[in-house]
Amino acid sequence: MASPFRSDILKGKVTLITGGGSGIGFEIATQFGLHGASIAIMGRRKQVLDSAVAALRSLGIWAFGFEGDVRKQEDASSVVESTFNNLGSLDILVNAAAGNFLVSAEDLSPNGFRTVMDIDSVGTFTMCHQALKYLKKGGPGRNSLTGGTIINISATLHYTAAWYQIHVSAAKAAVDAITRNLALEWGADHDIRVNGIAPGPIQGTPGLSKLAPEEINSKIREDMPLYRIGEKWDIAMAALYLSSDAGKYVNGTTIIADGGMWLSSPRR
Ligand code: HXC
Repeated sequence: MASPFRSDILKGKVTLITGGGSGIGFEIATQFGLHGASIAIMGRRKQVLDSAVAALRSLGIWAFGFEGDVRKQEDASSVVESTFNNLGSLDILVNAAAGNFLVSAEDLSPNGFRTVMDIDSVGTFTMCHQALKYLKKGGPGRNSLTGGTIINISATLHYTAAWYQIHVSAAKAAVDAITRNLALEWGADHDIRVNGIAPGPIQGTPGLSKLAPEEINSKIREDMPLYRIGEKWDIAMAALYLSSDAGKYVNGTTIIADGGMWLSSPRR
């Protein structure tokens, strides 16, 4: 679908996207690039990064891939530094890296719980923390008045409760808290806006293929006000809104882009 936004709304903005080699992260990389941003993507798998960068470059997007695991502080630091060194600034950080699997609370080991907390919550904080130096007003590559912006990809699982997702629910609740607290502190001190996006079920993502067996599709459709599964594009458009000047007064909120699913109940 054609973008409703002007193609230069992110002109000159350098964006670092964790988990940017696939799924929602890759679509954000693509759409940000098509709207003028230069792109750095971070991921653990070199092959995935290489083919994502090739795909972005074939669209005329200035893109780099940097290998790293958000659970490792030294990786977070080196990827942020590489982004600045290769692209000249850091204006937008998108935390899209996540880990997930379906398991009952009874069968989940504490290490399994910790693994997802480490990727989703601690990883998000670590990336924000490493990027602060470049995102704050007056930081390297930036003027003394305007800070950058952060977008954290969340979920809606923790608004209620979700079967076999205690680890992800806890991790995304922490992500939302990180979003609000950084928006408060870094908005006031550094002119950095921090927001989140909570996607519903999105077709063509690892999340949907891992978590939703085919038969749930028809059930979801019955219960959803908008009667459809979302597209990665829907999340990228929300990210464009939040990171461009269109969202310049939005800080500390998490936009729910789920077609109204989380508040739905079965039709009577
Ligand atoms: C039970 C599991 C498990 C499973 C791993 N563990 N998979 N437990 N069921 N299916 C446990 C392991 O037993 C181990 O605990 C601990 O988790 C760490 O497992 P590792 O395999 O060593 O971890 P690692 O290789 O680092 O892999 C991380 C991962 C993996 C999260 C487990 O799935 C991954 O890398 N995923 C990244 C991609 C991804 O998941 N994307 C989807 C995001 S979707 P023990 O105790 O045995 O040592 C998403 C959507 C959310 O986020 C919203 C949905 C609506």
